[in-house]
Amino acid sequence: DIDKPCLIQLPRIYDPRGSLTFVQDNDQIPFEIARCYWTYDVPAGEARGGHSHKEAKSLLVAVNGCFNVNLYDGFTWMTYTLNRPFEGLYIPPGYWRTLDNFASGSVCLVMTSILYDPDEYIRDYEEFKRLAVESDRRI
Ligand code: TYD
Repeated sequence: DIDKPCLIQLPRIYDPRGSLTFVQDNDQIPFEIARCYWTYDVPAGEARGGHSHKEAKSLLVAVNGCFNVNLYDGFTWMTYTLNRPFEGLYIPPGYWRTLDNFASGSVCLVMTSILYDPDEYIRDYEEFKRLAVESDRRI
């Protein structure tokens, strides 16, 4: 299984008027976008996430500010610091994620491959670890 988390450099259009970055279905990213959501006003010291997905693929972008995304494959943790609006973190299904260390004013934009479905989340950490060890999907 080669579908692993990775950082994706997104197009960056420089302009004296400011910069522009875009994402288009199946172009910069390995999926079609069905849904976007974003988290903001995260108080200092709070963490988000704390779940895994059975199906959803995601691309996370720090459109403003800085935060950490911690990924766990059931064996090892890997931390990515996101602080560039032209960089996306691709997360395939099967990885536990937590987001923390939000700088004040940070915005985390998430583009995802499926509509919201609470049944496709794994929110139980022990259940995740059991499934992850079975499937042996390493970061
Ligand atoms: P949650 O999954 O806890 O957010 P995070 O991944 O940042 O920890 O979601 C918080 C609440 O928002 C939860 O009640 C579900 C709801 N929600 C939706 O209704 N639609 C969505 O697309 C998302 C992502 C969450």
